[in-house]
This record gives sequence, structure tokens and C-alpha cells, in this order.
Amino acid sequence: MSTNRTFTMIKPDAVENGHIGGILDKITSAGFKIVAMKYTQLSRRDAQAFYAIHKERPFFGELVDFMTRGPIVSAILEKDNAVEDFRALIGATNPADAAEGTIRKLFATSIAENAVHGSDSDENAAIEGAFHFAGREIF
Ligand code: CMP
Repeated sequence: MSTNRTFTMIKPDAVENGHIGGILDKITSAGFKIVAMKYTQLSRRDAQAFYAIHKERPFFGELVDFMTRGPIVSAILEKDNAVEDFRALIGATNPADAAEGTIRKLFATSIAENAVHGSDSDENAAIEGAFHFAGREIF
């Protein structure tokens, strides 16, 4: 995967609250091209593996419950400087700290249910994209 790609999920809270369209509009309006996308639901095993880095955190069980409770939209996005620019677009992890106009400020409700995921590095973007998509699903 090129270094100009990042990985995102529209999380179950945002799907439940009817924000798929609003969030995709913010993403494409900011210049990101969608190169892979699916509507899916994580199993507990998927979520435990995806968030393995957080397994010692006190909120790990809550995080797995949340991320598996309903469907998500997962996607790979392409743009110059994709990882950094996407993290700016989504805003701080806690929506209370997120800047005006960011996706989390607009659509998230709490630090746990924060509407979207964005990869934190090029390396993790590649790992996370490959976790969710087969090569033939990426354009
Ligand atoms: P994200 O940064 O995408 O990936 C880790 C997730 O863990 C984070 O979004 C939140 O959904 C969740 N998370 C982070 N901090 C907390 C917390 N203090 N309590 C509950 N969930 C959290």
C-alpha cells in the first residue's frame, strides 16, 4: 500500500445515529478518494485482534463490546499526506476536545463512542487496511 493511504472505520455509534452519509461527505469533500469500502460487522475475535495494542487498557472490554454491537463501514482512503490529514479531519479522540468542524466534534458523543477510527501511522494504515480488505478489494 502506498504511504498516501489511511484506514478508517465509521463506528457502530455513528452508523446507529444515521451519520454514514454525513461522514462520507466530510471525507470526500476534504479530498480523500475511497479506494476500498465495505459495510460489515466485526466479530469479537476481529475486534480483539484489531485492538490488541489496547488489550491491557481498562477500557478494552468496553471497546470490544462497543465495536461489535452493530455494523460499521470500513474504508481505505487515498490523498497526499493521508494519515496526518485524516487525523486532523477527525479531531481529538475525545469529542469534547475536538476542534470545531471536525468529524468527531460533529458526530461523536463520547471518548468511547467517538464515531470514527483513523490510522495513526503509515505502517499501521497498511496493517489495518490489510486486516479488513483482500488485495482484490482495493482499487
Ligand atoms: P480510537 O482512537 O479510534 O482507537 C482506540 C479506541 O478506544 C478509541 O478510538 C475509543 O473508541 C476507545 N477509547 C479510548 N479511550 C477510551 C476510554 N478512556 N474509555 C473508553 N474507550 C476509550
